[in-house]
Amino acid sequence: MVSAAPPPVSDQPVLRLLNVESAYGPIKAIRGVSLQVRRGEIATVLGSNGAGKTTILKTISGIIDPRRGSIEFKGSDITARDPAFIVQQGLCHVPEGREVFPLLSVRDNLMMGAYTRSDTDGVHKDMETVFGYFPILRERAAQGAGLLSGGQQQMLAISRALMAAPDLILLDEPSLGLSPKLTKEIFEIVVRVNREHGTTILLVEQNANMALNAADYGYVLENGRIVMEDTCANLREKEDIKEFYLGMKETGVRGDRRWKKKKTWR
Ligand SMILES: Nc1ncnc2c1ncn2[C@@H]1O[C@H](COP(=O)(O)OP(=O)(O)OP(=O)(O)O)[C@@H](O)[C@H]1O
Ligand SMILES: [Mg+2]
Repeated sequence: MVSAAPPPVSDQPVLRLLNVESAYGPIKAIRGVSLQVRRGEIATVLGSNGAGKTTILKTISGIIDPRRGSIEFKGSDITARDPAFIVQQGLCHVPEGREVFPLLSVRDNLMMGAYTRSDTDGVHKDMETVFGYFPILRERAAQGAGLLSGGQQQMLAISRALMAAPDLILLDEPSLGLSPKLTKEIFEIVVRVNREHGTTILLVEQNANMALNAADYGYVLENGRIVMEDTCANLREKEDIKEFYLGMKETGVRGDRRWKKKKTWR
């Protein structure tokens, strides 16, 4: 993250999924997902409850092994590799529900993010950068992370990922459980991080409005399948998207009914 000028979005994919299929026992959660994330961009996967968004991220970061398909990161095959190996390659996952170490201080949580790094000056500089993005974390640096509010914990979870200075951040529904105001604030910072540091981000979201405004390229996921992909500028203009994800229509791109499930905390 320390690099001065953000590299421009390149055509070269930093991440590539080809026909990835993952299941929980008999339940197929994603069915032949192919997508790519180019270096320097924010890509998003939109989908409602149970569409398979979290499963895609867990499969990329090695928490779940796919049944089929392949995953390439920075040109190397990482399919079904160990999560620790994948983190070391520079891929950081901010899970759904903003997991922080509640008994560690805010500062120590941030240091945990940087545990693979040996460039002490760079780590210090990046700590200052995240405090710049989220001043509340500086104020609470010595406090236990478990005492932070949900929104502050989300800030910490994102910041911890930034401390790893990764090549790619997987961000699972940062808007979950946050007020519209805080959601907007967090998305603005995600975009700033991308623009100012060139950090590549794959964001999965139910909040299509926020995601389509923040991201460059988007995929629409329904029942474990990508049913549409385009630039976010184009997706924002599509009638299906406007009506189903940004509005009131009851059927999805493929005519599936919207699945209204109450969002619960894990
Ligand atoms: N541990 C699990 N065991 C069994 N089934 C699971 C498990 N986790 C997820 N599933 C199922 O896999 C499918 C995809 O779930 P996933 O969590 O990937 O969806 P999601 O798009 O992230 O949804 P949400 O917006 O609610 O977070 C759903 O049908 C879900 O019920
Ligand atoms: Mg999810």
